[in-house]
Amino acid sequence: MSKPPRSAPPGAEIEHIPVLLTEVISALALKAEGVYVDGTFGAGGYTGAILDAASCTVWAIDRDPEALARGDVMKERYPGRLNFVHGRFGDMAELLAAHNVGAVDGIALDLGVSSMQIEDRARGFSFLRDGPLDMRMEKSGRSAADVVNTLSEKELANIIFTYGEERHARRVARAIVSARAERPFSRTLRLADVIRAEVRRSHDGIDPATRTFQALRIYVNDELGELERGLHGAERILKPGGVLAVVSFHSLEDRVVKTFLKARSGAAIRPSRHTPASLGAAPSAATFTPLSRRPITPSERETAGNPRARSARMRIAERTTAPLLTSLPGGRA
Ligand SMILES: C[S@@+](CC[C@H](N)C(=O)[O-])C[C@H]1O[C@@H](n2cnc3c(N)ncnc32)[C@H](O)[C@@H]1O
Repeated sequence: MSKPPRSAPPGAEIEHIPVLLTEVISALALKAEGVYVDGTFGAGGYTGAILDAASCTVWAIDRDPEALARGDVMKERYPGRLNFVHGRFGDMAELLAAHNVGAVDGIALDLGVSSMQIEDRARGFSFLRDGPLDMRMEKSGRSAADVVNTLSEKELANIIFTYGEERHARRVARAIVSARAERPFSRTLRLADVIRAEVRRSHDGIDPATRTFQALRIYVNDELGELERGLHGAERILKPGGVLAVVSFHSLEDRVVKTFLKARSGAAIRPSRHTPASLGAAPSAATFTPLSRRPITPSERETAGNPRARSARMRIAERTTAPLLTSLPGGRA
C-alpha cells in the first residue's frame, strides 16, 4: 500500500483485509447492469471487488462517516457506478428509497467492526491500546463510557452476560460499579485493567477483557437489533432471484441470521422463547431459499493469512418470488 497523503482521514494507513471475499463475490452471481448493496462498506473491499467483477452499480452504506470519507477516492475509479449512503443497513430500504432505488439484485453484509476502527485508539474499541472509552461506530449517541458509568450493576451484568457470553459477568459488573464510585471511567485501559483484576486469563490465552469489550460494543451500537432490521430490509428490497450474503463473526450474530433464514425459507422450526417474534414468524410462502445448507467458512489458507477471518461464517440465500406479508409482528411489511 502506498502511504496516504497527510490530509488522509484517520485510519487510512491501516489495511483491512476483506474476509471470505471470493466466496461473497461468487455467491452474489453478479450481473452486468445489476444493482447491488454493500451494507457495510468499511474499507471498500467487497465494493471494489463487485465493481471489478461486473459492469454493475453499487450502493455502499456505512454508519461510520470516516469509512465513507476514506472511500471517496474510489468514486473516480468507477465513474457513475459507486454511490455512498451514510446510515445504517437496518434502514437500507428507506435509505435507498430516498434515492429512488426500490429493488436490488444482491446484498452483502460483513458484520462487526473494521480493522481501521479497532486499531484507531481514538475510537475506543481496543483493550490493548489506551483511548477514550467510546466504541460508537457512528461517532454519535451513547458512548461505552456513558454505559459503564450510568447503568445499574444488574443491567451491566445482563449486557456482559448476554452479549459477551461472560460467565463472570456479575463479578465484572460489581467491579465496574465499585471502581466508578472512586472515579468515572473515561479510558479503555482502565476498564480493561479492572476486568483483568477480576477474571483470570483462560487456557486458550484469550485476554479476559475480550468478552466484556465485545458486549459493550454490541450494546452501544445495537448490533443485533441492526442485524435483525437489516435482514427484514433485505427481504423487502431484493428482487426475486436476488442473493443475500451475510458474513458474521460470532455465534450471537450467526444465530440471528440462521433463525431468520430458517423461518423465511419455510423450515418448520419452533422459535425458542428467546427468539424475537419478528425473527421467528414465517410468512405464508417462503421468501428465501438457502443456497447452502451449512455456513461457509474460510479456508485454512485464508485464516493463516488473516487471523480476523478465523471465526467468520457466511450464510447465503436467494429471494423467492413470494410477496411479503403485510402483517408481520412489529408492523414490518
Ligand atoms: C467488517 S467491516 C466491513 C469491511 C468491508 N467488507 C471491506 O471489505 O472493506 C464493517 C463495516 O460495517 C460498518 N457497519 C457495521 N454495522 C453497520 C450498520 N448497522 N450499518 C451500516 N454500517 C455498519 C462498520 O462501520 C464498518 O465500517
